[in-house]
Amino acid sequence: MSQQIWTATQQMALKAMGFPLWEGEAMEEGLHQEKACSQDTSQALVEGANQELAWQQLEKEVQDCTRCGLCQGRSQTVLGAGHRHAALLLVGEAPGAEEDRQGKPFVGRAGQLLTRMLAVIDMQREDVYITNTVKCRPPDNRKPTPVEMEACRPYLERQIALVQPRLLVALGGVAAQSLLRTEQTISRLRGAIHTYSIVTWPETLPLIATYHPAFLLRSPQYKKEARADLDRIRDFLDGAS
Ligand code: URA
Repeated sequence: MSQQIWTATQQMALKAMGFPLWEGEAMEEGLHQEKACSQDTSQALVEGANQELAWQQLEKEVQDCTRCGLCQGRSQTVLGAGHRHAALLLVGEAPGAEEDRQGKPFVGRAGQLLTRMLAVIDMQREDVYITNTVKCRPPDNRKPTPVEMEACRPYLERQIALVQPRLLVALGGVAAQSLLRTEQTISRLRGAIHTYSIVTWPETLPLIATYHPAFLLRSPQYKKEARADLDRIRDFLDGAS
């Protein structure tokens, strides 16, 4: 009777199911290919596990952060939300009251408009990664100061390095000015593709700036320009610009 020969994958499955293998039951030829394959798989698993650890570490550091005075007024930190390998990473200003309560970014009225803006370019919130320049709510919903944004920047840079998006979108003047280190107004910064340099990652990233959804709620007459920005974002992601 001929002996049954198992491939490497079959051997692993059998082992996992508790069936012992007899000597010589491995298929030598298939073994090399499958070994290479399983090395790729294990490398991917290791990378995935490392990434998970890096996110956990970041989350913990942000939760414990006291780098600036904003920590004193927060109920909880708001790190970010969404797809951890998104092509699009959006950066808003700062958590507001609702975000501070829920621990998630853009969950108030501005967040609802942001969801509708994303729908215009056929995207859902789960498709993108959303965060803010600072991870704690500033008191009385004031803008975060440049010092507070600098204190929080290493966290944002780590998020960007982990997600590795194709495009960054700055929502509003505060985020755009901080990310691009400029004092130009949002109306001047929108309408172009800028370059964002990340300190901890040896590459630059394209950045598009657009109006903040909270501003659009107050000034709906700017929605036409915001629509043009959204089209530019879609074109970029589709490889048309
Ligand atoms: N909610 C956020 O999370 N960020 C903003 O900039 C505004 C509202």
